[in-house]
Amino acid sequence: MFHITDEAIDDPVKRYDAIVSLIDAVTSGERDLIANLANAASVLFHMLPDVNWAGFYLLRDSELVLGPFHGKPACVRIAMGRGVCGTSAEQKQTLVVPNVHEFPGHIACDAASASEIVIPMIVADRLIGVLDIDSPVAGRFSDVDRLHLESIVELLMSRCR
Ligand code: SME
Repeated sequence: MFHITDEAIDDPVKRYDAIVSLIDAVTSGERDLIANLANAASVLFHMLPDVNWAGFYLLRDSELVLGPFHGKPACVRIAMGRGVCGTSAEQKQTLVVPNVHEFPGHIACDAASASEIVIPMIVADRLIGVLDIDSPVAGRFSDVDRLHLESIVELLMSRCR
């Protein structure tokens, strides 16, 4: 059994240390992408404060298709270049959006979402999909989130090699 801590961890870096340890443990020795992404979505959703959606979209035939996630049901297909996810995927760059209502073409899956971070998943220059996390709090995602989430995506991608 894996333990999702419900202790208050005020320091965001220490919280990410706990998150990375748990994702490392739940994906250790497993190469199946869907299984690892499913467990990672669960850990991120339950252990990050002020998050209402955490999950993955996977590249299928040149569009993004909904993958493992936690949160309310979400739109299934996103074209490259559309919304925050499609833009991050097309640019192969992390996007931190402090106010989703100001992002042109933002796709609202949950009306509660106010800010969002999307990290592309890339293996050997090839786009696999994106990690998408939404928050009901404006300006929720900082550089600490960006750096740690990018390294979590790297860890997940290294599991599938
Ligand atoms: N807001 C995203 C769509 C996915 S949901 O947030 C889960 C976007 O604009 O791409």
